[in-house]
Amino acid sequence: MASSPETTLARLSELLDIVDATSKSLRGFLQAEQRRKTEPSESNKSFSQSVADDLKLPFHADTKISGQAALLCLACERIKQAVASPRHIVFEAATSFWTATALKIAVESDVASLILKISEETGKEGVHVDILSRYAKVEEDFLARLLRQLSTSGIFQEISPLVFSNTISSLTLVSKEFRSHLGIGLYAGMNAAAVLPEYLSQRFALAASADASGRAAEYPPELLAPFNLVSKGKPFFQWLQLPENAAYAENFNIGMRGHGVVEGLAFLAVDYPFVSLPADTLIVDVGGGIGAAEDLILPSAPHLRFVIQDLKSVVEQGVNDAGPNMKRWIDEGRVRFQAQDFYAPQPREVEGAIFFAKSVFHNNPDSQVLRVLINIRQAKPSKLLVLDRLVIPHLRIESSTAAGESEIYQKLRAGVKLSGENGSDGDAEIVSSSQRITTTYDLYMGGFFAAKARTLDEWRTLLLQGGFRLTRLYPLRASTGQAIMEANPV
Ligand SMILES: C[S@@+](CC[C@H](N)C(=O)[O-])C[C@H]1O[C@@H](n2cnc3c(N)ncnc32)[C@H](O)[C@@H]1O
Repeated sequence: MASSPETTLARLSELLDIVDATSKSLRGFLQAEQRRKTEPSESNKSFSQSVADDLKLPFHADTKISGQAALLCLACERIKQAVASPRHIVFEAATSFWTATALKIAVESDVASLILKISEETGKEGVHVDILSRYAKVEEDFLARLLRQLSTSGIFQEISPLVFSNTISSLTLVSKEFRSHLGIGLYAGMNAAAVLPEYLSQRFALAASADASGRAAEYPPELLAPFNLVSKGKPFFQWLQLPENAAYAENFNIGMRGHGVVEGLAFLAVDYPFVSLPADTLIVDVGGGIGAAEDLILPSAPHLRFVIQDLKSVVEQGVNDAGPNMKRWIDEGRVRFQAQDFYAPQPREVEGAIFFAKSVFHNNPDSQVLRVLINIRQAKPSKLLVLDRLVIPHLRIESSTAAGESEIYQKLRAGVKLSGENGSDGDAEIVSSSQRITTTYDLYMGGFFAAKARTLDEWRTLLLQGGFRLTRLYPLRASTGQAIMEANPV
């Protein structure tokens, strides 16, 4: 679609108007925050302000402002697309695997922690690559070039020739939980992506030949998900249970904690009204891992009780690796770990509870989510809370006319209005935001499990098939598109 100067001008003007309006709000907010921080009452800051400070998120103490920040990010993404050479945009996308590879090496050799430690010891801001190379065990010249490439994404910076220091982004790599979370993608994710073309062509060929002979296509275990081609037919979570993958499995479970930080889930207790649930309400955390959700919810809502269900080896890790808080909750009877396959019927003792599924359904294709939902439904739940990602089917990127551009941005500014099944009850407004990470997650889910990140309509339909009506949505302010979907049994 050729773009006339008139159309380009309309597009750029719309985008710059968004930049103008959102940055005005952000500036006003930061100025107010600056004043607040110098006031003596700073110690009385709200829960949201404390979490935002802890996570170093300057705009997320306030959901309206975090929405403005998200809109600004989206506008910046589009401004680049509007003004850069289109071939450069495509080339950058086609070669982004180099960035991922550079990051993999930096994570493996823990370069960020090395820079932090050596700078603290020497009292100097940066570290020369000849020193870094010795500790990181990566050839000096290549290490410098890898870090220089990463610095173009704001990860590390070269403060003088061949001297590198951390940035706000590279400092996040000092956290083991975050490195573990990235590790899930940088190892199994990369492998699954590498075999995706082969998986797609083999499946297409099998489907076409079945179609030609009038049969339904049947796929061998290796072709049930792209990752299965890597794992010789073992589904990802079964592969994780193999003794030879114990280290990877441990990394995965720690990585799920890191995932909570990436998604800003420390706000969970205010993004959903857990505090308003009656005392001793029982919540069954289905596929709850090692208790990442409880770590986030119980400090603010200590009146609740949880049963954390997962596969045997995972709940064992949950008990064995329990930190001081978790140990106390277990002793007080606030938390109980339970080995429970979520495809099997729920035990009688959890009947009537609230069931909670956090980042579980996106690991499962529809047919398997239905199996889990039906088992939960049979346990007569009082409510179901699904914490998962919503893909927003995207707004147009560009039009060939100025009028078309203004229509695109009218919609983008309005955001997405999500209406519940029973009128205003389920209303929630979701600000238009970048779908880059959301759609990447969708591919992860496809690559690992032949599963997906779902749109609101897909969630509604699936929940209904499983016996639940979606009644309300609670967007999670600092997440990459996640929300709590509240559903009632029908
Ligand atoms: C993506 S993780 C989410 C963990 C946890 N809800 C969280 O957000 O930290 C998916 C979890 O589902 C668990 N899982 C996989 N298959 C399961 C099954 N058949 N029954 C119970 N849990 C299962 C995995 O062990 C893993 O802990």
